[in-house]
Amino acid sequence: MYLTLRELLTHPFFATSGIEKVKPFLQNYKSPLYLYSREVITKQYNSFKEQIPNQFKIFYAQKSNPNEVLLQHILHLGAGCDTASLGEMNAALKVGFKSEEIMLTGPGKSEDELAFAIEKGILSINVESFQELEMIEQISARLQKRQNILVRINPPFDACEKTRIIGGSGVSKFGIDLEQVSDFIKRARRLKHVCLNGIHIFNSSQILEGEKILQNTIEVIKTAMRFQKIHHLQVKRIDLGGGLGIPYSTEESPLNLQALGSGLRNYLEGSEAKQFLRGVDLVFELGRFLSGLSGIYLTKVLYTKTSRGTNIVITDGGINHLLRPVLIEHKHPMVNLTAILEGRTEVDRYLVAGPLCTSLDEFDDEAKLLKVLPGDILAIVNAGAYGFTESMPYFLSQTKVREEFLPLD
Ligand SMILES: Cc1ncc(COP(=O)(O)O)c(C=O)c1O
Repeated sequence: MYLTLRELLTHPFFATSGIEKVKPFLQNYKSPLYLYSREVITKQYNSFKEQIPNQFKIFYAQKSNPNEVLLQHILHLGAGCDTASLGEMNAALKVGFKSEEIMLTGPGKSEDELAFAIEKGILSINVESFQELEMIEQISARLQKRQNILVRINPPFDACEKTRIIGGSGVSKFGIDLEQVSDFIKRARRLKHVCLNGIHIFNSSQILEGEKILQNTIEVIKTAMRFQKIHHLQVKRIDLGGGLGIPYSTEESPLNLQALGSGLRNYLEGSEAKQFLRGVDLVFELGRFLSGLSGIYLTKVLYTKTSRGTNIVITDGGINHLLRPVLIEHKHPMVNLTAILEGRTEVDRYLVAGPLCTSLDEFDDEAKLLKVLPGDILAIVNAGAYGFTESMPYFLSQTKVREEFLPLD
């Protein structure tokens, strides 16, 4: 995916930060690094707040990027924190989130993780199996607590995810099949140390079509309404998970938040939803939407060569730092920053590969780049979400990636 200079300068990372702020990181380059812009996160957060009705609260899906500087920045913006492990809960508490601003979700929570969450009194544990429900009851009883929970549902609908992140065939390790939820509610009601407050459905990621997010949101709310009617479930919270996408290539358009916001507003003002949703918190656990555009990965060209007519570029960083393009077969745009700054104009195609001893270690097999020379620094953009955190840093005992931040104005 080729970015022209004009496209690069209008990309949210460079448009917000200006290329000048990035230059010192190229001049002082020592090893591959992730460079983050907190201002991009602020912009994304504010755009959601401006366009989406107030009733929707933001919880940051820490799994998209657990860097503690970013986490603290997001805390100061006013979000809650969605966690998926003991490590993530600890990090959230360490940077200053209060227990009642933290939720825990995930299909395989251990007894220790549940005990920690219950002891701390976190806002909600989002339960994904009957056995987990029983374990929460036992631990809460032992600790003489009553824990707030949501039931995570595996629904028969989704927002048509095209990547392989969460969507699937209907069979899922996530949540409890919709058909079993009535039994879950009946069981939860008989337990003394849990309080079932509503439902959680996260069924699609990287969605750029606002209409699909709108329809999916309506389906989720209707599902909660149905359980309220059938079982008199007292719904206090509906968690819609994440899923708001970012454009990874120039062919994709950003999500139209304004249209999504007005669709949601119209729905919320309709009589049925209005009455049902009075006093109900609606939650989006935003991951990629907040952090994705905020990071670039910088790596230096060690060598260039040709192999049977193909231009090969070997960089000093590889999938040990950024696995995502290979893991889910989703390419990220790449630019030769050195060539841009030097004003080179010749363009060619390259297979860009890292230093690891596996042919999987390729960022792109036909990257269109300004002429590449040894010593150039390439930037892989849109690397703020599921970048380093989803990689394989121990392979080949390579240099650990650094994480740095553009200064705040
Ligand atoms: C439970 C849960 N919530 C939120 C998210 C964030 O998703 P996204 O990055 O698509 O917003 C994830 C991602 O896997 C998740 O598992």
